[in-house]
Amino acid sequence: MERDMYTTRELQDEIIRLKKENDVCILAHAYVSHDIWEVADYVGDSYGLSRQAREAPQKTVLMCGVRFMAETVKLLSKEKRVLLSSPDAGCPMAEQMSAEELSRVKEQYRDYTVVAYINTTAELKTICDVCVTSSSAVTIVKNISNPNILFIPDCNLGRWVAEQVPEKNLKLLYGGCPVHMGISVSDVEAARRARPDALLLVHPECLPEVTALADYSGSTTGIMDCAKKSSKKEFIIGTENSIVQHLQLACPDQRFYPLSKDCICHNMRLTTIGDVYDCVRGAGGEEIVLSDDVLSRGRRCIDAMLELGG
Ligand code: 13P
Ligand code: SF4
Repeated sequence: MERDMYTTRELQDEIIRLKKENDVCILAHAYVSHDIWEVADYVGDSYGLSRQAREAPQKTVLMCGVRFMAETVKLLSKEKRVLLSSPDAGCPMAEQMSAEELSRVKEQYRDYTVVAYINTTAELKTICDVCVTSSSAVTIVKNISNPNILFIPDCNLGRWVAEQVPEKNLKLLYGGCPVHMGISVSDVEAARRARPDALLLVHPECLPEVTALADYSGSTTGIMDCAKKSSKKEFIIGTENSIVQHLQLACPDQRFYPLSKDCICHNMRLTTIGDVYDCVRGAGGEEIVLSDDVLSRGRRCIDAMLELGG
C-alpha cells in the first residue's frame, strides 16, 4: 500500500514486519527523528554505526543518515546490499576535500600518517591511512606510532584531539561542519545567562572557542551518555537539535535546551518514516555502488580505525 494511506504507527508496524520479511537491518544515526529510532535495529554515533555495520547478519542494510555513513557500511560489507534512505542526504563536510587536493597536500607531508575523519567520501578514504570518528579520535591518534599526523578535513575536531594528545604533531587544514561551526561564543553567553545552573555539553565539531567554554565535549553518544549519567537537572546541548528532543524523551525528569536554535542539519533531517517504509518494501532509497578499487583501498583505513579504536 502507498505510504500516504497509513498513520505513523501503522507505517512503523509495516516497517517492522517488512524488515524481517526482506532481511533488512535498519541503522539510524542519532540525529534522525524519533519515529525512525523506534523501528531501527541500532541507533548511535558514527563509530557505533560502523561497528554494527560490520556485525549485522542481514543481507540488506538500510542507513538512515547521510551518504558517507552508507558508503562506510558498503566498505565494511561489500557483499551486502546497502541502501541510503534519502539519496539527497549528503554531508557538506565530506565534500570539502577532493582526492586530487589531498594528493597534492600529501606530497608536502610525506612522512605524516593521514588521519581522516569518517565524514569523508569513500574515494578520499582510498588515499588515507586511518579513519577516526569523534568518539574514537583521541584513542586512535594516541595509538598511531608515527608522531606526525596530517588530520583532515575537520580542523575543529583536529584541534580538540591535538589538545588531548600533546605528544603528537598534528597538521590541520581548513575544513569543518557548517552546522556546528554556526554556534558562537555569544550563543554560549546567552545560554549561560538564561540557564546558569545547566551543564553545557557540546560536540567537538564546534569552534574551539565554544568547546573551551563547555563542561563536557564529546560525540553524539558521549553527550547523551553524559547527560543520562549526570545528577544535574538542566543541560544546554551544543549539537544537532534533534538530540535535545531525544534526551528529553529519554530523561523526562531533566530539562534540555538547545545552545543555538539554528543547529539543524537539514541533510540528517531529510529522511522521513515514509522513506524508511519505501526502502524496506523495495521502492525507495539509493543502492550504494562503489568500484572494486574503492572497495578494496577504501576499506583499509576503516579497518585500521576499528583495530586501533578498540
Ligand atoms: P558523531 O560521530 O558524533 O555521530 O558525529 C557525526 C556527525 O556527523 C556529527 O555531526
Ligand atoms: Fe555533516 Fe555537520 Fe550534518 Fe554532521 S551535522 S552530517 S558533520 S553537516
